[in-house]
Amino acid sequence: MTKPKILLQFDSDTHASVFDAVVAIDAGVDQLLQYGGIELTQVRDLTHGAMFTRGPQDLHQTAIFIGGSNVTRGEELLAAVKDCFFGPMRVSVLLDANGANTTAAAAVIAAARHLNLAETTATVLAATGPVGQRVARLLAGQGASVKLASRSVDRAADVCETIRKKLPQANLAALQTSNSSEVQSAIAGSQLVIAAGAAGVELMSHENLNAANSLKVAIDLNAVPPVGIAGIDAGDKAADRAGVICYGAFGVGGTKMKIHRAAIQQLFTANSLVLDAEEIFSLGQQLQ
Ligand SMILES: NC(=O)c1ccc[n+]([C@@H]2O[C@H](COP(=O)([O-])OP(=O)(O)OC[C@H]3O[C@@H](n4cnc5c(N)ncnc54)[C@H](OP(=O)(O)O)[C@@H]3O)[C@@H](O)[C@H]2O)c1
Repeated sequence: MTKPKILLQFDSDTHASVFDAVVAIDAGVDQLLQYGGIELTQVRDLTHGAMFTRGPQDLHQTAIFIGGSNVTRGEELLAAVKDCFFGPMRVSVLLDANGANTTAAAAVIAAARHLNLAETTATVLAATGPVGQRVARLLAGQGASVKLASRSVDRAADVCETIRKKLPQANLAALQTSNSSEVQSAIAGSQLVIAAGAAGVELMSHENLNAANSLKVAIDLNAVPPVGIAGIDAGDKAADRAGVICYGAFGVGGTKMKIHRAAIQQLFTANSLVLDAEEIFSLGQQLQ
C-alpha cells in the first residue's frame, strides 16, 4: 500500500508560514508536520525522525520543506539537514525561504521567453536582497552579463563575490544606484532589467524606463504600491509598454505559484533530491 505523503515544514519564523502550508496541501501533501521557530540544534533529531521511521522503499514519501523569512538561516538549515543524511538514508528537501528561489526562477523564466540570456546584458536592481541575489545568480548561470545594483556598491560587490564562489566564470559587475542618474547609468546598454526591491519602494522612475533605449524586457517583483518600476502595472504579463515587454509582480506570481507546487510534488518522486535555486529554475523551465 502506498504510504501517505508527509512533508516536514522547517521554518525559522515563530509560526511556520501559512502561505507555504497552503501551497503544500494544494500540491497534494497528505500530512504536514510544521515546526516554527526552528533552531539549528533541533534539526538533527527532527530529520532523523523523517529518515528512520519508514523503510528505504518508502522514504520518497517523506520530504522536508525549508522556509522562513530569513534566507541565510534557511541556507544554514538546509546544510544542517543535509549533514544528517548518509548513504540511502535520506529524504528529499526543498529550500524556498522567503519564496526567494521560486520567485527568482519565475522572473528569469519570464525573461527567457523573450531573450537569449546567454547574449543578454541584464541589470538587477536591489540585487542584494534574497530574491535579487538569486535572480542575479540564475541569470549569470545562464551566461548573461549581470550588473548588480544596490544603494551600496560594497553590498553589491559582496553579492558578486558570493556568486563567484559558486560560478567562477560569472560575468558580474557591482554598481551603485542611490539616485535616478545612477539608475539610468546602471540600465544603459542592458536589454533586461529586473527590479527586486523591497515592497513599496520605487527604484526606477517613468523617465528612467522611457530613456532606456536598449531595454527589451523589464520585470518588477514588487507588488506593493508604489511598484518598483513606475509605469509597470503589477498585473502586467508581457505587456508592451512603449516597445518594452513588461512584467509586474502578479504577472510573474502565477508562474511562481506553479513552480512552487511542482517543486513540492517533485519532492515525492525520489528520496535524494535537494531543490535549491538552480534545480527549481530547471524544473520551472520544464513546465513552460
Ligand atoms: N511575486 C512574488 O511572488 C514575490 C515573492 C517573494 C517576494 N516578492 C517581492 O520581491 C521583492 C524582493 O524581495 P526581497 O525579500 O528580496 O526584498 P527585501 O529583502 O525586502 O529588499 C530587497 C532590497 O531592496 C533594497 N531596499 C530596501 N529598502 C529600500 C529603500 N527604502 N529604498 C531603496 N531600496 C531599498 C535593498 O537593497 P540595497 O540596500 O542593496 O539597496 C534590499 O536588499 C519584494 O518586493 C517582495 O515583495 C515577490
